[in-house]
Amino acid sequence: MFCSGRGSNLQALINATRRGRLRARIVVVVSDQPKAFALVRAARAGIPTVVIQRAGVPSRNVFDRRLIAALAPHRVRLICLAGFMRVLSPAFVRQFPRRILNIHPALLPAFPGAHAVRDALAWGAKVTGVTVHLVDEEVDHGPIVLQEAVAIRPGETESSLLARVHRVEHRLYPLAVQSLLAGRLRLRGRSATVRAT
Ligand code: GRF
Repeated sequence: MFCSGRGSNLQALINATRRGRLRARIVVVVSDQPKAFALVRAARAGIPTVVIQRAGVPSRNVFDRRLIAALAPHRVRLICLAGFMRVLSPAFVRQFPRRILNIHPALLPAFPGAHAVRDALAWGAKVTGVTVHLVDEEVDHGPIVLQEAVAIRPGETESSLLARVHRVEHRLYPLAVQSLLAGRLRLRGRSATVRAT
């Protein structure tokens, strides 16, 4: 898993593996932020961590090569981005075709970018939600695996909406990961279908 921040989605995936809802092993947590709370969560769960900072690295390609090198010993089948605040290079994405998932706190293609919850609220949208999608070479763009709507209530604040969006994220991400790893995801062009168990 790649995380830059508080790692609540990492925790949701850790919990899902413990409860047997996700049959997977999280082999490494990579962060570009040495102080990310996600690293603490990983360490508490006994998951190896790697920090690769962007500062001082001459280019995104060099940074991404370091990411790839960090993954090499772990025989990674799937990369899950969860609040990873760096855009991966096309070269990185091509190394892991259809093997990178991202979770985004809006119904893509609405409200892409780093402030999706705030943007949906500022726009006056009545509905926003959560998207889990495969990562391709464009930002917040790849085929949608799962999506769920979250209503925006009158008087909603950013923090109240964020809390409800997170609750949906923490349920949806383990489901999406389990479906992909279990081979229940079928892709035709942009159209992804998840077969029921
Ligand atoms: C989530 O809202 C996710 O949708 C977005 O970044 C946030 C990460 O939160 N991409 P956390 O670090 O998992 O708590």
